[in-house]
Amino acid sequence: MNNNDISSYFTQSQELIDNTLTGWLPSSTIEPRKLHSAIRYSALSGGKRIRPVLVFATAEAFGIDKSDALAAASAVELIHAYSLIHDDLPAMDDDDLRRGLPTCHIKYDEATAILAGDALQAMAFEILCTRGKHSPQSRVEMLKTLSTASGSLGMVGGQAIDLDSVGQQLSLDSLENMHNHKTGALIEASIILGAQSAEISDASTLQQLRLYAQSIGLAFQVQDDILDITSNTETLGKTQGADEARNKPTYPALLGLDGAREKAQALHLSALSALDNLTNIDTSRLAQISEFIISRSR
Ligand code: IPE
Ligand code: IPE
Ligand code: MG
Ligand code: MG
Ligand code: MG
Repeated sequence: MNNNDISSYFTQSQELIDNTLTGWLPSSTIEPRKLHSAIRYSALSGGKRIRPVLVFATAEAFGIDKSDALAAASAVELIHAYSLIHDDLPAMDDDDLRRGLPTCHIKYDEATAILAGDALQAMAFEILCTRGKHSPQSRVEMLKTLSTASGSLGMVGGQAIDLDSVGQQLSLDSLENMHNHKTGALIEASIILGAQSAEISDASTLQQLRLYAQSIGLAFQVQDDILDITSNTETLGKTQGADEARNKPTYPALLGLDGAREKAQALHLSALSALDNLTNIDTSRLAQISEFIISRSR
């Protein structure tokens, strides 16, 4: 497989998830219209869809078609969409640009943005309960994976640590802990959801997948922090330099840019060695995604 393969894999996956969410999200002609319009504005505004891509690639490694992993892929993407709406609010990162467009609270208003996030979160769990052909047991497993990863011991907990850490010099361990929660938790959940969509419950397989996931999850946020410095607003679709302006603790702030890049590379290598232990499945797509995560420019 070459790089073209991975970019067309992303394109196909993005189209599939966009078409699915377009159909599953309530129409903006349904009351309350402003709320539904805000939900669609934020969820259908063209993110990279890396979490659905991870769900699909993991499910496919176990021989399951993307179309049979749509509930999980959509659910995790909606949790992500909600987390970004709230992340951008004035009380949090106070950002006015997301995916090249005004953030939800700028385009609509703060109350609508808060409610759009709330509703997206609930919809994610509704989708896991109702969509796709999954056994009741597998639905419960998926609900457990996504709810744990989303809550105070997962993404929301990481966001709380992030906000509490503004202006502070964190130790490397504390920074890693924050990143593992705020970003790593949903990335890890995406991979486990892919396996659970394929009804995989073997503990040692899930454990190797978790090791891969933890490495790429941390690498994803390290690269996000690097891009905040090295990229530009147009490419990113969000305001470049926002972390420094807000005195956020980041890997480049602690280790310097070169140190952060070395960290990302080391995490990529540990992701690959976790995949080496998964000898019964084709992990080449997951390896490509790890490479994409540390080399992406947006
Ligand atoms: C941005 O996530 C926030 C982080 C967790 C680093 P993405 O980089 O996945 O954002 P989109 O969905 O592609 O816009
Ligand atoms: C966001 O991290 C993590 C979540 C939304 C859970 P950032 O605050 O670094 O994300 P961006 O840079 O605004 O996309
Ligand atoms: Mg933030
Ligand atoms: Mg932010
Ligand atoms: Mg960031």
